[in-house]
Order: sequence, then C-alpha cells, then structure tokens
Amino acid sequence: MLNSNLDVLPENAFPRLAALIEGLTPAHAPIPLSLGEPGHPMPDFVGDILQAHQGDYSKYPPINGTAEFRAAAAGWLNRRFGLGPCPVDPEGGVLPLNGTREGLFSIAFIVTPPRKAGRQPAILMPNPFYQCYAGAAAAAGAEAVYLDAPAQTGFLPDLDKLTPELLERTALFYLCSPANPQGAVAGLDYLQRLIALAREYDFVVAFDECYSEIYLDTPPPGGLQAARMMAEKPGGMAEPFANLLVFNSLSKRSNLAGLRSGLIAGDPGLLAKFRQFRAYIGPTNPLPSDAVATAAWSDEAHVVANRALYHEKFAIAEEILAGHFDYYTPAGGFFLWLNVGDSEAAAKKLWQAGGVKVLPGKYLSRTQPDGSNPGEKYIRVALVGERDSIAEGLRRIRDVLSG
Ligand SMILES: Cc1ncc(COP(=O)(O)O)c(C=O)c1O
Repeated sequence: MLNSNLDVLPENAFPRLAALIEGLTPAHAPIPLSLGEPGHPMPDFVGDILQAHQGDYSKYPPINGTAEFRAAAAGWLNRRFGLGPCPVDPEGGVLPLNGTREGLFSIAFIVTPPRKAGRQPAILMPNPFYQCYAGAAAAAGAEAVYLDAPAQTGFLPDLDKLTPELLERTALFYLCSPANPQGAVAGLDYLQRLIALAREYDFVVAFDECYSEIYLDTPPPGGLQAARMMAEKPGGMAEPFANLLVFNSLSKRSNLAGLRSGLIAGDPGLLAKFRQFRAYIGPTNPLPSDAVATAAWSDEAHVVANRALYHEKFAIAEEILAGHFDYYTPAGGFFLWLNVGDSEAAAKKLWQAGGVKVLPGKYLSRTQPDGSNPGEKYIRVALVGERDSIAEGLRRIRDVLSG
C-alpha cells in the first residue's frame, strides 16, 4: 500500500537531534546554533512592496512568474556571473521557485528515466549533503549514490573516483557550492570538469548555489559561469547551458527564508520540461512575493550589508576557535564544520554542559557500506544569530569540548 522507495530514508536530522538531547537539562541558558535560518534583518523595502501589491493576492499567479521577476533574476545572474556573451534569456532561461528546495526536489522527477544504460538510474550527491537531495532521489525511484566529501578532497566529491559504469547510469548530480555544511567552494576547473562529464555521459547537473552570496573576499564561481567559459572555447556547445541547471535563493542572500522565493536557470530544454511538470503541481509564488523578489534581485546594497555582518562573526569565530577542532574559516556559506572527534557525544555534551545546540555531522551524512561516515567526527555550527550570543556560544563550545 505504501511507496517502498521511501523506506531507504532515515529520520530527518532535526528530529534525531531532538531525540539525542531529550531529557537532558542544559546547565546554561540555551544558545541555538543548529538551525541554518538566517537571523539578519530583511531588506527594508519588503513591507512597502507587499502593501503596494496586496490587491494581487486575489489573483492566481502564473507558474512562469512575472516578466519583471524573470528580467530581474536573469539580470542578476548575468551581472553576477559575467554571462555577457551568452546571457540567460528572461524568456525561457529562468523561472521562479517556491524556495529552492522545492525545485531541487522536483527536478529529480524530470530527469530520471525508468532505466539508464539498462539499469536503475543513479542520482549522485555529496556526502554530507542537503537532505532534500536524498528524498528526491528516493521518490524518483533512483539509487542515491553518496560521494564522500572529506577534508582530504577539499570537502568536495572526488570526480576522479567516478567509474564509467556509474556515470553511464547517472541521471542527476547534485553539487552544492558553497557547500552546506563544510563551506567548500568548487573552482571553475572543477565545475567545468563536472559539466564535461555530464555532457559525455548524458546526465544533468543541479548546481545548488544558494550560499553563493555569503563569502569572505572572492565571489564563488557558479555553474553558468563555468559553462559560459566552455562555450567560448573552439568547438563549444551550440547551447551554452546544455545539461545544467542552477538553483539560487533569496533565503540566504536577502534573509527572506519565509518569502519562499528562489530561481532556477540554465538549459532551456530542461526548463521547458520543468515548467510543464510543475504546472501540474502548482507551486507558484504569489504576485506580491514576485514583486518583492524582483526588487531583491535588483538590489546589491542589502547583500553587501548582510555579508559584512557575517564577516564580523567569522572574525569572532577565528579569534575564539583558531587552533581548535581543525577550525578554518569557510570560503562560503555561514556554517562552521568542526572536527570534535565524535559528533553525537559532542552535541550531547555541548547541550548538557554548555546549553549550546549544534547538529551532529553524522546526521547530515550517510554511513557507507563499509561503516564509515564522513560527518561522524564533525559538528555543524550555524552563525546565523546575533553576534554576542554567537560569541558566547563559540566560547562555550571551545571550553566545554576542550575541558
Ligand atoms: C544546501 C541548501 N540548498 C537549498 C536550501 C533551500 O533553501 P530555500 O528553499 O529556502 O531556497 C537550503 C536551505 O537551508 C540549503 O542549505
């Protein structure tokens, strides 16, 4: 009676954390550092725009979003990733999402055939990974293949380890850069190699770039940028964005997680299929939300201010944690990934002795058939809250776990 494809999915990370610390009384006032929900102010234009457009709540919004939204989203992608010679076309090259997560999930259904190379299709993802990828793979009837992304490979999957046997049956490859949780950023060479593999073995790459605007000094490169550079080389593809889709979001960039507004851009053929499929589901964005999103993608001042707040917190983290737990300041995103030896034991101890809630890395990673788990030794710490409470939380982490 039930869909047995879903049996491979374990309990989600947050209920597991709740169960781990259930019944333990924290010795200090709690400081939550487990959830990656941005806590910085949202742009000040949001309220006025919603008010000005409130009459539009009476209308069904189009699945394609408004022309203004598509122009703003394409304009941002073209500016941010220097797509000049082969820009994203607002008509056919970009669509709104009701939050990136919904699109990352839906895409698995569009690109997973019943069989590939005569076998069950595979969906590849980094390990640790954003949990939505695994749910999507299971629901779409694919085998989820977890590619370890440990410190030794720069916290990215090792593309050299992929065998032709696996690549031939690969339908989709999720790459998260900057990576949640490790903050690793894939360079242009890496991105280009992955796109080349996708074209050689005929699979799709879903570039999850929702942390792309939170970085220290150097803007992380993106999938469209890598593809644009490939298209300019002699013999480049007629369709510059063939086989790739990028996902981005206002949740982190603009602190608008509750707006549920993201974008998908890339291969126009794939986008047409995506649009057709999603019209059956109907996860449209209300017109007032599209108006806010249009303004947000058109403005960089609030993004610069947001980044500056993270810079302050990374400076604090560096000061408190340098030399402990293999601390490094991530190249992108807002998580710390700390090597504490035993992630579950550390999370429990931190809650009980320090009142600090962190996520065991083990819950964000899959245990491999050989029993190894690349998140086993790590905790994920989200620097999304207010500065002083983060500083206090990090001091407690250092003192409780070093003591
Ligand atoms: C790696 C990653 N991808 C996608 C998302 C989804 O973001 P949203 O649906 O809010 O756009 C998140 C949110 O935490 C994330 O961490």
